[in-house]
Amino acid sequence: MILQADSLYIARSDKEVLSGINFSVNSGEVYALLGGNGAGKSTTLLSFLGFLMPTRGNVRVKGKDVGADIAAARKTIAYLPESASLYEHLNAYENLRYFLQLAAKNATPEDIDAALDRVSLATEARHRKLRDYSKGMRQKVAIALAILRDTDILLLDEPTSGLDPSAIDEFHHIIRNLADGGKTILMVTHDVYGACQVADRIGLLRDGQLVGEFTSEGKERIDTEIVHRAFSPNVDRSSQRAAV
Ligand SMILES: Nc1ncnc2c1ncn2[C@@H]1O[C@H](COP(=O)(O)OP(=O)(O)OP(=O)(O)O)[C@@H](O)[C@H]1O
Ligand SMILES: [Mg+2]
Repeated sequence: MILQADSLYIARSDKEVLSGINFSVNSGEVYALLGGNGAGKSTTLLSFLGFLMPTRGNVRVKGKDVGADIAAARKTIAYLPESASLYEHLNAYENLRYFLQLAAKNATPEDIDAALDRVSLATEARHRKLRDYSKGMRQKVAIALAILRDTDILLLDEPTSGLDPSAIDEFHHIIRNLADGGKTILMVTHDVYGACQVADRIGLLRDGQLVGEFTSEGKERIDTEIVHRAFSPNVDRSSQRAAV
């Protein structure tokens, strides 16, 4: 078990926002935590990084309680926040070199190009400043950084929000490859279709509680229709279709 939340309770501003959730992510697995706005998805990610401490229960990274050694947990995790915090006035190479230096990670120019190849960032774009980039291109630089940091674990907060369908497909392909290469990936999203497309397991989070879990069987992806129905149980989808 690489990531584990065990009866995890978290309060923010005295309000309980996670109410005893349990789930775990194995090595090489993509786990999608799916839920609506305010369900507690980002809160869960922050707890694995030790930015928010449990009021009860615990979170473990590689079997170790995060609270016992926050620095050790952070060292083994690459985290992509909701909006990638890269520098607009720097190009892709400069951004990567700067953030790798902060992470005390050495990378040769060849390593950096190999990572940018892996996320298919166009060669001619690499020397352009990020202020001229589309959202999808920025996301590629952020993923390249995670690849170069070479951590075992990736936490991704809404990684595909604002990307167009082909950029989303491309992104999911990269994520799948990373997991197949042994990385452990926990992503949070409210995109049912995307979660089903990429995840080995989906946990459905509602009002701070895990209300369902879905697992893919072998090569079969998780059934979008079933997850959608669980996500919005009160929507009568048959009458919705009839009305169209
Ligand atoms: N900085 C904060 N201070 C206090 N409460 C917060 C803070 N951030 C979030 N919350 C509360 O915690 C709860 C869970 O928020 P969280 O950001 O984890 O939800 P989320 O599932 O990531 O939602 P979204 O899809 O909108 O990103 C919400 O009720 C929210 O109001
Ligand atoms: Mg969030």
